[in-house]
Amino acid sequence: MNLLVYGSYGFTGELVVEEAVDRGLDPVIAGRDAGKLESQAEEHNLTHHCFTVDEMEDELEGYDALLNCAGPFSKTYHEAVEACLEHGVEYLDLTGEVDVFRGIESRDAEGRVAEVSLLPGVGFDVVPSDCLAAYVADRVPDVSHLAVGFETILSPSQGTAKTAVEGLGRGCFVREDGGLRKVPTASRKRTIDFGAGETSAALFPLGDVVTAYHSTGAEDIETYVGLGGTVSTLARVAETLGPLTRSRVIQSALKAAVEATFTGPDEEQRRTGEARIWAEAVDEDSGERAEARLRTPETYAFTASAAVEAASRIEDVEPGFQTPATAFGEDFVLEFDGVERTDV
Ligand SMILES: NC(=O)c1ccc[n+]([C@@H]2O[C@H](COP(=O)([O-])OP(=O)(O)OC[C@H]3O[C@@H](n4cnc5c(N)ncnc54)[C@H](OP(=O)(O)O)[C@@H]3O)[C@@H](O)[C@H]2O)c1
Repeated sequence: MNLLVYGSYGFTGELVVEEAVDRGLDPVIAGRDAGKLESQAEEHNLTHHCFTVDEMEDELEGYDALLNCAGPFSKTYHEAVEACLEHGVEYLDLTGEVDVFRGIESRDAEGRVAEVSLLPGVGFDVVPSDCLAAYVADRVPDVSHLAVGFETILSPSQGTAKTAVEGLGRGCFVREDGGLRKVPTASRKRTIDFGAGETSAALFPLGDVVTAYHSTGAEDIETYVGLGGTVSTLARVAETLGPLTRSRVIQSALKAAVEATFTGPDEEQRRTGEARIWAEAVDEDSGERAEARLRTPETYAFTASAAVEAASRIEDVEPGFQTPATAFGEDFVLEFDGVERTDV
């Protein structure tokens, strides 16, 4: 397969490239910085291709699949998806951004016509949560309400933290009666046992409000983050600042703060860290309820493995908008070392 990894020299892109090379794939690496690309290409003995997202439409011919690692994806997905549809190239990315999932979902019909699979969210966001959502939904007769959440204590990379800050600026969404409704981040709280005892969790913007609607059909979906974890700092900031989170000044200050605070997990943390995901499905008519948990390896280690696996199989996936669970099934997440699923 002729795979192109765009945004290859970012924190996560480099992990993806290392994983792809370890697995004997020979991806072409790409991005907009020629110097960074040249040194990465030399280190891994790979071909590189330098172009900006605006030039993507002229540069994708001849590739089978694009794995977009250049985020915030709100700045890169549109041109990338456009170019993939134009050249019949399968599209994957590592987004967790609600607006990006919505934007790609809206290209579903074009994907089917062009016979191109559009599979965003093949990292920690949203592979485990989407697979777990599909799993619990299958354990009730007709799921109406779904809630998913995660907790991790390790530091996100600067790229992830900046993307999350932008996400807070765009607000949080819940799905109600099949539609998306904007609500303040952290405006609902509940107690969740992610696997280490009950803890407080708050509403947080996660892509599952789009993806789990496709993979489960639930008309009401809420997404949470455990308040014991690192990402919860952002939920607390959003709760305190309210609508001010969206102002340009606050956004710049928050981005500067995350640049100074978050460095991303080091090699040891990626090897030993873990994350926990929880999901609950309810069938309102029958009153039946199913709840389950997942334990996964550290989020960036998991992201690299899941993204490369998804890319290596993308040519067998149906065209149009897909989620990890619709593309590979609810047990896809169990294929990775260190993942455990528990029924509650
Ligand atoms: N799904 C998941 O679970 C998951 C896991 C990890 C990361 N992520 C997401 O992946 C993204 C990258 O994270 P990271 O940790 O790798 O961040 P990073 O170290 O800041 O790297 C970002 C990469 O994207 C490129 N990029 C950004 N904006 C671009 C644009 N407009 N045009 C072209 N290239 C652009 C950067 O290139 P330049 O240096 O040239 O700007 C760099 O290569 C973030 O949005 C993060 O939230 C998701």
